Amino acid sequence: MPSLLKPSEIVHRLDEHVIGQDSAKRTLAVAIYTHFRRMTANAALDSVELSKSNILLIGPTGTGKTLLCETLARILDVPFVTADATSLAQTQFVGDEIEAILHRLVDRAEGDLPRAQRGIVFVDEVDKLKAIGGQARATSGESVQHALLKIMEGAPVRLRDGRHIDTTHILFICGGAFVGMERILTKTHTFGFISTSDGDDQQILERLNARIKPTDLLEFGLIPEFAGRLPIVTRLHDLSQDMLIRIMTEPRNALARQFTAMLQADGVELQIETEVFRQIAELAIEYKAGARSLRGIFEEMMTDVIYAIPDNPAIRRVTIRSLFEPAELTTAA
Ligand SMILES: Nc1ncnc2c1ncn2[C@@H]1O[C@H](COP(=O)(O)OP(=O)(O)OP(=O)(O)O)[C@@H](O)[C@H]1O
Ligand SMILES: [Mg+2]
Repeated sequence: MPSLLKPSEIVHRLDEHVIGQDSAKRTLAVAIYTHFRRMTANAALDSVELSKSNILLIGPTGTGKTLLCETLARILDVPFVTADATSLAQTQFVGDEIEAILHRLVDRAEGDLPRAQRGIVFVDEVDKLKAIGGQARATSGESVQHALLKIMEGAPVRLRDGRHIDTTHILFICGGAFVGMERILTKTHTFGFISTSDGDDQQILERLNARIKPTDLLEFGLIPEFAGRLPIVTRLHDLSQDMLIRIMTEPRNALARQFTAMLQADGVELQIETEVFRQIAELAIEYKAGARSLRGIFEEMMTDVIYAIPDNPAIRRVTIRSLFEPAELTTAA
């Protein structure tokens, strides 16, 4: 087992790739830390047997749910697989699909079963597993939940090669957009408060009001047993214009860095003025797909430039001052 990362270290590492979403990062970091603590400190904890706490990530589309989980997998160095709840719901043989997911986990662990049994499974789009009556898909959504909750709980599953994988210590992270959650929350929660003089109290109050209860999840068609196995619920928030700008410029593989490097390979310097990032972020907010639309807008802006460069080897610098004006191409004297 690699040395145990502290929660704060996990958060720092996540910060390198994921902008904002601080509370989700902290919750995930603590859950992961606890998850590994449980397995490494067995001797001391023998008598208390910490039980596993699977996690539900809720947040609007394009705000970093999948990114958070992928980044986690990379920094943790544990076998990690992603599954899509909607495709589970489309298959006739849920059991086979689930076995296939666990099989991939064993593959990631290079066949090392004990290592796979400490892995992480991310199940995306669980909010699409509705159990409303009258729809063909609906029944299958519910049966997927039943199948999932069995392995989330911890059960031996027979693999193709005849071995059994025990899922008791596999950590399950579920994700979903849960569109409309805000509305449900304002309907069902409001904790009053007497004194708000203390900042800390105010924070606790906000946390309580933002808390999502299992009953809130039922409105999305999750069955109580499934919702009950996701004791940790954390939310991702809409990205502000500032955060979108940071996403384009800060992370190691941020869009601006990618295109800078690409032009650099042709000996061309790329200069993009701050105003441009502001404009792109504004458009992305209009498109309502979180950070997801940034790449499209960015690439469209770069198309003419990337088209022109190979034809003009004399170009040394490209300056973009506005999304709505042609780029300025400077050639060598
Ligand atoms: N907080 C963030 N920090 C940095 N990049 C982000 C962030 N959120 C989203 N992105 C960028 O947007 C892309 C889409 O994000 P991601 O796949 O994580 O969305 P999601 O929350 O899983 O959405 P969906 O509900 O549609 O699956 C990512 O590949 C990443 O480039
Ligand atoms: Mg996703």
